[in-house]
Amino acid sequence: MELNEIKQNFLNKIKNSEFSENIIVFGEGNKNAKLFMIGEAPGGDEEKQQRPFVGKAGKNLDEFLSVLELNREDIFITNVVKLRPVKINEETKRKSNRPPNKTEIEFFSPFLFDEIEMVNPKIIITLGNVPLKTVLKDNKITIGSVHGTVVEKDGRKYFPLYHPASIIYNRSLKDTYNEDLYKLKEILKSL
Ligand code: URA
Repeated sequence: MELNEIKQNFLNKIKNSEFSENIIVFGEGNKNAKLFMIGEAPGGDEEKQQRPFVGKAGKNLDEFLSVLELNREDIFITNVVKLRPVKINEETKRKSNRPPNKTEIEFFSPFLFDEIEMVNPKIIITLGNVPLKTVLKDNKITIGSVHGTVVEKDGRKYFPLYHPASIIYNRSLKDTYNEDLYKLKEILKSL
């Protein structure tokens, strides 16, 4: 399936769903990418610009890419859930991000699998627990036990990383994340 067809199927399904009023943020990037990266869900900046990994998350992505000596155009980047999950503060009525729930993950994951099939990458990077559990279809697996290793399943290679947002206030996790990135850099050379 081509990307346009995937998007069209997706929009048809959304039209008749509880998510019909939401702003959708599609995956984007190189359709022949070796490296396919999956985040959790868009945040406020992504929703505004209707692009994945912009704003603060985009800065993290730029750092990630500079270590790997890659450009944004070299990879394909997407999220498990393609809308911004929010909670609303009753008093202030302000929106804030929340993790995607089971309904959202189940609704959106078929589109993620279509995107993976279309790109057919050499390696898939998952950021944090949500994409990891989703692609491996394993609710018990945790990022702490598999980060920085190649996980093979059904003929595909996955390389789980911590989510960049989770390392911001945790110095030791940041060192681990950087070590994992250098491991990934070596692995990419052999693909
Ligand atoms: N922005 C995204 O698009 N995905 C994330 O997982 C985090 C920020």
